[in-house]
Amino acid sequence: MKLQTVIPTLALALGHSLALAAPPPVDPAMLELADKSRCLTCHDVDETVRGPAWRDVAKRYRGKPEVEETLVTKVYEGGGGVWGNDYMSANKRAGIDNIRILVHWILSLP
Ligand code: HEC
Repeated sequence: MKLQTVIPTLALALGHSLALAAPPPVDPAMLELADKSRCLTCHDVDETVRGPAWRDVAKRYRGKPEVEETLVTKVYEGGGGVWGNDYMSANKRAGIDNIRILVHWILSLP
């Protein structure tokens, strides 16, 4: 192989392994909104805390956009029974509009 072809191939391979090693980046504005809305006391994007990791939520409902509004209502009013024995208390103070934005973002997480 010529050097001109080896270098891009190496760069590509390196890029792939980096992409596998680190989870895809997260929109900082959304994290800030989640923090302000007090979601992060029970949730993390990548890890299960009291509530499920948000990437797991995205995975569970991938290809089912019809659940979005149901999830918005559940986050707003609280609920349980899907991920284990714990219960999510109501998040009314976060406001339905913020919850709608957050749930839409959570469901779109890669
Ligand atoms: C007091 C802890 C707590 C807080 C605060 C909290 N959650 Fe949760 N959340 C949970 C638990 C526990 C579950 C799992 C409920 C279940 O098993 O049905 C959950 C589940 C969820 C789910 C998945 C629901 C389902 O039916 O699959 C979403 C989406 C979610 N939370 C988003 C949010 C957002 C957005 C906020 C902030 C506005 C938030 N949560 C705040 C504890 C919390």
